[in-house]
Amino acid sequence: MRLPLAIVAAIADNGVIGRDNRLIWRLRSDLRRFRDLTWGKPMIMGRKTYDSIGKPLPGRRTVVLTRDRSFAAPGVEVAHGWDQALARADALASEMGTDEISVIGGAEIYALALPGTRRLYLTLVHASPEGDTLFPAYDRSAFRELWRRECAKGPDDEHPFTFLDLERRSSAAGR
Ligand SMILES: NC(=O)c1ccc[n+]([C@@H]2O[C@H](COP(=O)([O-])OP(=O)(O)OC[C@H]3O[C@@H](n4cnc5c(N)ncnc54)[C@H](OP(=O)(O)O)[C@@H]3O)[C@@H](O)[C@H]2O)c1
Repeated sequence: MRLPLAIVAAIADNGVIGRDNRLIWRLRSDLRRFRDLTWGKPMIMGRKTYDSIGKPLPGRRTVVLTRDRSFAAPGVEVAHGWDQALARADALASEMGTDEISVIGGAEIYALALPGTRRLYLTLVHASPEGDTLFPAYDRSAFRELWRRECAKGPDDEHPFTFLDLERRSSAAGR
């Protein structure tokens, strides 16, 4: 069965999502939301994002996309193409009893997922840091707003931010 895809991303006001293969802000509130959104689900990520995290995250299953046939990491599933990653994530979701697959970046993997993604769980970070990785351009009008919350920065947040959940207007077009 093809399950819906949900992108989870934190995007600065200038579109930046990363620099030097790492996150560029400390936002405890966003880490909590990321954990809640992805918990109990398979996550698809690019090899560079996996390297930046460095280990499989607890309570989730990890599918890493790479063209490197020799890549292996303990506790991680490896896929060598987008369709293979989707098939693997579908199988994991069924094992885990969940009905959504998280796509957690980085930019290359968001670009692969965007044409077929059902939901975007975004954190809009109100800052404009320098970076080398941008969230890919996408047709915002194809998505309707499900929920939004403006948040002042908490004690462990470097910036104010907005949580924004979007859903594709025609679910026929997305998984
Ligand atoms: N702000 C956020 O929410 C967020 C979330 C995630 C990541 N990030 C940031 O984004 C940056 C990383 O993003 P990125 O775009 O550079 O890298 P990425 O998307 O994490 O990984 C790219 C890698 O994925 C593999 N890949 C891509 N397309 C593939 C395909 N069709 N088939 C097989 N493998 C494929 C390749 O791995 P190989 O080179 O091994 O072949 C490629 O080098 C970092 O700075 C990270 O911190 C930010």
